[in-house]
Amino acid sequence: MDIKLIRQAIGEVQVQWLVLGVFDDDRDSPPDYLRGTPIEGTLQQLASAKDLSGSLGELTPLFEVSGLAAHSVLLVGLGPRSRFEPGAAYTAGLAAAKRLSAKKREGVAVVLPPADDEAAVASALIEGAIVGTRGPGLRKTELNRHPFSSIGLVVDTGRSESAYERLAAALRRANVVGEAVNLARDLVNTPPADKSPAKLADRIGVVAAEAGIIVQTWDETRIQHERFGGLLGVAAGSSEPPRFLILDYRGGGDSPCLALVGKGVTFDSGGLSLKPSASMEAVKSDMTGAAVVVAAIQAVARLAIPVNVRGYVALTENMTGGKAMKLGDVLSMRNGKTVEVLNTDAEGRLILADALSFVVEHRPHRVLDLATLTGACMVALGSKVAGLFSNDDAFCADLQSACRLTGERVWRMPLDSDYKEQLKSTVADLKNIGGKWAGAITAAKFLEQFVDSTPWIHLDIAGPSWCDSENNTRDAGATGCFVRTLVALLEHRDSVAPG
Ligand code: BES
Ligand code: MN
Ligand code: ZN
Repeated sequence: MDIKLIRQAIGEVQVQWLVLGVFDDDRDSPPDYLRGTPIEGTLQQLASAKDLSGSLGELTPLFEVSGLAAHSVLLVGLGPRSRFEPGAAYTAGLAAAKRLSAKKREGVAVVLPPADDEAAVASALIEGAIVGTRGPGLRKTELNRHPFSSIGLVVDTGRSESAYERLAAALRRANVVGEAVNLARDLVNTPPADKSPAKLADRIGVVAAEAGIIVQTWDETRIQHERFGGLLGVAAGSSEPPRFLILDYRGGGDSPCLALVGKGVTFDSGGLSLKPSASMEAVKSDMTGAAVVVAAIQAVARLAIPVNVRGYVALTENMTGGKAMKLGDVLSMRNGKTVEVLNTDAEGRLILADALSFVVEHRPHRVLDLATLTGACMVALGSKVAGLFSNDDAFCADLQSACRLTGERVWRMPLDSDYKEQLKSTVADLKNIGGKWAGAITAAKFLEQFVDSTPWIHLDIAGPSWCDSENNTRDAGATGCFVRTLVALLEHRDSVAPG
C-alpha cells in the first residue's frame, strides 16, 4: 500500500475519509488536540448527548462536517489517554480500516493522536490499518474487503525536519510489518488442501526469494537422512510428504544468530487419537508458528535490519492413513532420545523436538519457538495471552520489552523439574503426554529435553493465534500474532546478542 505523511492542519486535509481518534477521557469535552479545529463543536455536541464514549475501537461516522476539507469523518475510540500505547493504537487503526474497507473508498487519512512515543504509536496505528483492510474471506467470489490505494498519516505542521523524518521512517516500517502480519494471516487462513506441506514450502520459497532470503527445502528423503524421527512419525499417517525449511537472513555480519522455530502442522486431525469434528474446524491454523516465523523474517529482511536470524519450519499433516503411527510406537528423535507415542494428537512436540535438536547443534545465541501447542494453555491463559516458557531470564526480559512495544501479551509459566516426572515412559526415554493436569507445562518440559543449555523461549500461541468470531476491532480467523513482536525484538540488536 502507498503510505504517505501529510503535513497539514486537520481542517485542510482533502480526503474522502478522515479518521480522528478520541480518548475516553474526552467524553465531556473534545480532546485538546482537536480544540480550535472545525470539528470541535460537533464533538462537543456528541459528547454532551452521550453519543460518544471514546472506548477503544468505538466507531462513529460523521458526514459533511462543516469547515473541514475532508468529505467525511470516522471517529475512532482510543480508550484511556493514560493507556494509549502501541497496542491500543494498533487496535484503533485496525477497527477504523476494517470498517472503511468494507466498501471502495477514494482516499483515507488518519490523524496521529498525541502520544509519548510518537514513532511507535504511528507505526502501530498504520500496521493496524493495513491489517484491518485484509479479511479472512480469501475464497469469496465477491471480495468483501477493499484495500485503500493509499493511506495518509496526518501530522500537524511546525515540527522539526528530523521529527518528520522519524515519522516517515515509522511509516515505511509500518507498511512492511503490517503486510507481514497479513502474510502470516493469509497463510493460516488458506484452506488446508491448498497448503499441503509441499505447496506451503513452495509458497514460502517464493516469499523468501522475493525478500532476498536464502531458503533450503528438505524433502522426505533428506528428512530421513537427517534422522528426524518425530517429523517422520507424524507425517507417516498422511499421503502428503513432510518438508523442513531453513530460512537464512544475514544482515548482521559476524554477529551471533537468533534461531526462530515454527510448528507447521497444516492440518491436525489428531491422527489415530482422532479429534471430534467440532474440534477440527480450525485446525488449519496449526501451522501458525511456521507462518509467523516466515512472516517475521520476511519483514526483517525487507527492512534490512542489521541482525542475523535463521528460521526453521517443520511442515506436515497429522492424519490417520494406513501407515499412521500407532499408540505404543516408539520414535527415535534427531538427538538420539526415544519417545513412546501414547497420544498421536500430541504431535507438535514431536516435530519441534527434532527441529530444536537440530537447531541447537548449530549453537545459535538464542532459540525461540512458536507453536499452537496445547489446548491446556488456553485453559490457563485464555485466548489473548500466550504462554511463555524459558530457561533464560535475560532472554525473557528482552521478549517482554518487545511485547511492551507492540501490546502483544505473554505470561511466564513455570518449568520446575518435578513436572518432568509426568513424561516418564516404561519402554522409552520419554512419552509424549503428561497426565491430566498442567498440560501446557508438561508439553514445554518435553521440548526442554531437546534444547540442551541453549537460551530458549517457547511461546505456546494456541490461544492468540486464532479468533472464532469477529467484532469491531478484529477479524475472525488468523490473527498473525507475534509477527510484530518478533520484528520489535530483532530491531533491538542486544536481544539477539546480549552483552
Ligand atoms: N494443535 C493442538 C493444540 C491446540 C488445541 C491448538 C486447540 C489450538 C487450539 C495440539 O496438537 C494438540 O492437539 N494438543 C493436545 C495435547 C494433548 C493430546 C496432550 C491438546 O491440547 O489437547
Ligand atoms: Mn494435535
Ligand atoms: Zn497440533
